[in-house]
Amino acid sequence: MAHVVVVGSSNTDLVVKTERFPKPGETLVGGDFFLFQGGKGANQAVAAARMGAEVTFISKLGKDLFGKQTREGLEKEGISTRLVLEDAAKASGIALITVDEQGENTIVVAPGANASLSPSDIQAALPSLPNHAFILCQLEIPIDTITFLASYAQEKNKNLILNPAPAQKLPESMYDQLFLITPNETEASLLTGMPCDREDDYPKIAQWFRNKGVKQVLLTLGEKGTYFQNSTQQHRIPAQKVTAVDTTAAGDVFNGSLVVALAEGMQWKEAINLATKAASISVTRMGAQASAPFRSELV
Ligand code: ATP
Ligand code: RIB
Repeated sequence: MAHVVVVGSSNTDLVVKTERFPKPGETLVGGDFFLFQGGKGANQAVAAARMGAEVTFISKLGKDLFGKQTREGLEKEGISTRLVLEDAAKASGIALITVDEQGENTIVVAPGANASLSPSDIQAALPSLPNHAFILCQLEIPIDTITFLASYAQEKNKNLILNPAPAQKLPESMYDQLFLITPNETEASLLTGMPCDREDDYPKIAQWFRNKGVKQVLLTLGEKGTYFQNSTQQHRIPAQKVTAVDTTAAGDVFNGSLVVALAEGMQWKEAINLATKAASISVTRMGAQASAPFRSELV
């Protein structure tokens, strides 16, 4: 069985359906309310577990009801919570989400305990990690913690995959420690300072990251699919045509599925196809972790 390590945030998602997003200062009466397990780290961990991997998840919760529900949810997915830590002084992470009729969303995160997942927490966890080749992380935990992970990955020859979401600038020294970076269009544009809207933008963006030392670049382009580039290959893989109900966590399902495919030894095109299929299923369902498909659904 493939083993992957996911390091990142855990949130509880408070979701309201709405016909359209409110303007600043406007109050709208929306539709149904949902409470879902979320957080980019936990979503990616659950997506990976549902693809059939053994997942070690490193995260931090508050000592509260949402934290308890999060831990129980992860355990139901077969994910060990041995390295899901607690900060009794902080609340568990929360995300306020609105989802419109096209399945698009807006998200505001209150990180709470996610913000105190520190480099020393990771250092303390490292000796107890099972044998692993791949580590997957995002940017909903402190950047110092990601920096520490990147140095560890380089020193120990581990493949670090960074999904740079939510977008923020990265330390220059981090780029050549990354096996793979997976920005969406907004994140790619913020990191490079270049437009990422048109087909001929994608190779230039990927080249920018590779010039900085990133080994492979995979741009996720929403309903337009993905663009991949490394030193020997490039692939432009379209998304599957589906009716989107809620695109929340499409990127998380994509990343969580992709890391499992890579850990199983799949080639790039095959791995990206698998992740594309998984993400396309997730957008047809409401919720973050709730929307992640099981491996048996990828026919
Ligand atoms: P999110 O922030 O919503 O989790 P993201 O912005 O990180 O997602 P996207 O690029 O929007 O990531 O989506 C990731 C992948 O999911 C896409 O490359 C595509 O394969 C799939 N996907 C996203 N939206 C759709 C859609 N409307 N229809 C089909 N597939 C989609
Ligand atoms: O990527 C989707 C996730 O972003 C949501 O589950 C929310 O918790 C925020 O972290």
